[in-house]
Amino acid sequence: MARQTMQVIRVYQYGDPEQLRCEQILRPEPQAGEVLIRVHAAGVLPADWKMRRGFFRKFYPQSFPYIPGSAIAGVIEAVGPGVTRFCKGQAVFGRSTHGAYTEYTTTPVEPPALTPKTYSLLALKPDSLTFAEAATISGGATTAWSALFGDGELCAGQRILIHGAAGGVGLFAVQLARWKGAQVIGTTSTANVDFVRSLGAETVIDYTITPFEEVVSEVDLVLDTIGGETLQRSMTVVKRGGTLVSLLEKPPAQLAKVLGIRAMKNAVTPTSQDLEMIARLIDEGQVKAVVGQTFPLQQARQAHKLSQTGHGRGRIVLVIS
Ligand SMILES: NC(=O)c1ccc[n+]([C@@H]2O[C@H](COP(=O)([O-])OP(=O)(O)OC[C@H]3O[C@@H](n4cnc5c(N)ncnc54)[C@H](OP(=O)(O)O)[C@@H]3O)[C@@H](O)[C@H]2O)c1
Repeated sequence: MARQTMQVIRVYQYGDPEQLRCEQILRPEPQAGEVLIRVHAAGVLPADWKMRRGFFRKFYPQSFPYIPGSAIAGVIEAVGPGVTRFCKGQAVFGRSTHGAYTEYTTTPVEPPALTPKTYSLLALKPDSLTFAEAATISGGATTAWSALFGDGELCAGQRILIHGAAGGVGLFAVQLARWKGAQVIGTTSTANVDFVRSLGAETVIDYTITPFEEVVSEVDLVLDTIGGETLQRSMTVVKRGGTLVSLLEKPPAQLAKVLGIRAMKNAVTPTSQDLEMIARLIDEGQVKAVVGQTFPLQQARQAHKLSQTGHGRGRIVLVIS
């Protein structure tokens, strides 16, 4: 029987959004330890356009053409030999290693395809979440979870400053920190102040009006989702013995030493258990997923142009069917 085709976005070389090409190609088949997923929604992460621009070429060189994206939600269409964790027809969400901007993707879920080095995460999607909502979790809630509780060791009663609190990571970080019992200060622009407050932040700083270091000091933890001078300025508002976790870059070690703080680039990777726990919290209504603008697969270029602005509320999502 002839193999079926699928619509997909592929990149043939590093460059601008015009490199995202919509094509019809053969549908992949799941290999041993893999599942084939019918993708219903794909999260558009800043990492996707950074990868397309070639920012990661030194550490994660791509072989071309590649299918962009990693955050998915969909339904298991078929399982490869040896797979017992999932079965056909189950709704799932998480991280695919073979691309997300596609009608179908395969991803490893068990050995031999899944090795200790393969960063693939999949969990059953709670019925209470739409596919678009579920596609916001990987690279959003999972990153926030690992950075706050893994790298940052956040505890109940601590004070945390979260930059970019309306963004795809920040909005989950605010809610997860509150769930943990921390006191949350968030930064965002004027248009998103009420939104960040509605997520549970006790204090919201409009960074377009107030330099945060004028009103914040002595925090236990900073989650930096911005980098550059925001990261530098943030180091001075951490109390001695406190911690700064940046998602963007390695903070200057010498300055951290002088200030007596722990400062690091996030390094803890999320696990399937984290993914399941986050899904449970969302299912219980303790944390909510927020979908920003949505686009059809064919408009991936517009989605990337929007993501590249570095501004907005919620996660941009490609709704695929
Ligand atoms: N290392 C990792 O593991 C990892 C994982 C995930 C993400 N990241 C990185 O972390 C960054 C954030 O990711 P994301 O998915 O949350 O991005 P996003 O969804 O694009 O959100 C970015 C947010 O930053 C806000 N913002 C922009 N300039 C700001 C400033 N000067 N001060 C405070 N807030 C500001 C924007 O809000 P306004 O519209 O209000 O300006 C926007 O809501 C990206 O650079 C991404 O590549 C790294």
